[in-house]
Amino acid sequence: MAPLNNEKNQLFLGLFIHSIKLGELQYLRDAAVCVDKSGKIVAVESEYDQKKAEEKLYPTLGWSASDVAVTKAKDGQFFFPGFIDTHIHAPQYPNAGIFGKSTLLDWLNTYTFPMEASLSSLPKARRVYTRCVRQTLAHGTTTAVYYATIHVPSTNLLADLCLSMGQRAFVGRVCMDHIGPDYYLDESPAQSLAATRETIDHIRGIDASFALVSPILTPRFAPACSREAMTALGKLHRETGIPIQTHISENKDEIELVRDTFPEAASYADVYDAHGLLGAHTILAHAIHLSDAEADLVASRGSKVSHCPTSNSALTSGEARVRWLLEKGIAVGLGTDVSGGYSPSMLLAARHAALVSNHLAMPLGKWADVPAAERERAKLSVEEVLHLATRGSAEVVGLSDKIGGFEVGMEWDAQLIGLGLVDETPGEDDMTDHGNVDIFGWEGWENRVAKWVYNGDDRNVKKVWVRGRLVHERA
Ligand code: GUN
Ligand code: FE
Repeated sequence: MAPLNNEKNQLFLGLFIHSIKLGELQYLRDAAVCVDKSGKIVAVESEYDQKKAEEKLYPTLGWSASDVAVTKAKDGQFFFPGFIDTHIHAPQYPNAGIFGKSTLLDWLNTYTFPMEASLSSLPKARRVYTRCVRQTLAHGTTTAVYYATIHVPSTNLLADLCLSMGQRAFVGRVCMDHIGPDYYLDESPAQSLAATRETIDHIRGIDASFALVSPILTPRFAPACSREAMTALGKLHRETGIPIQTHISENKDEIELVRDTFPEAASYADVYDAHGLLGAHTILAHAIHLSDAEADLVASRGSKVSHCPTSNSALTSGEARVRWLLEKGIAVGLGTDVSGGYSPSMLLAARHAALVSNHLAMPLGKWADVPAAERERAKLSVEEVLHLATRGSAEVVGLSDKIGGFEVGMEWDAQLIGLGLVDETPGEDDMTDHGNVDIFGWEGWENRVAKWVYNGDDRNVKKVWVRGRLVHERA
């Protein structure tokens, strides 16, 4: 069953904000955006109201007013591209916030593997995945790149739920047949590959052209995968073009484990490259401790990086050097990495990307000897982190021609953001559902957006659309 068309054409009116390049937001004021029944943007015009749209745009589009649903952004509201979470583990969602003082390898063994193993139960998987998809949509995530578990039936269920709830998604059955707990491992490289194929076939059966939900090959991380399994996945990637996701260079002990497990490899990145897993459709999560040579290799293969600052701070993994990666020519997007990251909010991930970049600018630890001007350049602005969460992430998932901005030909994956307008007269404020972003009225839009990035949450996400379909609305 392919995604259905929407019943009506749609006209969106008001303020639209999107990133047009790293560090630059465009503000389309009093604009009109027309979206056809397939969810595609067919017109974008500034200085338009409904009447002018009806008179000038509808005839050129062959639309009649009775066949158009109109949505207006109110005062204090604006349309923004939906967030694209390039790295999230749906089965870990119940553990969000539970990590104590652990670091990656003990966190995996203590919290993560037991939770993932328990999702062999389909009723439990349904409960967890339904909530995870609902919550991410409610936070404005219109596309999510999911890791599921090793289990085929519950992984297929996650794909079904994304399709029925309308979230654009990449769904990966996790491959792990090497180092891992006895109770949670694929039986063999062959079984790992066969199970991967089962999920691909299932997704092909529910969304033949991968218009909304796509499979993604998911070797968990090098230590968890045998050479045979990685070689087979590399071959499958070359045969099918299905993208790949994995983790890289997240934690010092993990890097040592990779060195011990693959002594023949020149580096962590080289392990993936040697097995045909580093390509232009590969998403590498974390990439914190890459060497210069590894970053050059990743750049030369065109592989992308998912930056997960919330997770990297929670698990004490380190600070990824985003500016350095970008200047190497590597595409970078943002990920929540739930539940290494403790929140499904991409707005929080964007906020943390800015804060973590500020840490790189402080003369502490290994950055102490870096010249001040060089350190200062590491800082990411509000505009830059919003770019990473939308256009940057779109490039990472290979959909920059479809999502991440508001241009004709792109799909309407968007959120309507509402900020709290403080009443003129003190004492008569309506605080209901107002959220933490207080707008007094004298702030310009740049400052309003900054206040949203630093204080906003799901209360500010009033409506969410994917391919033109309304998939979330706040009561
Ligand atoms: N490395 C291997 N598995 C995982 C995981 O589930 N989360 C994170 N953050 N890193 C990993
Ligand atoms: Fe992860």
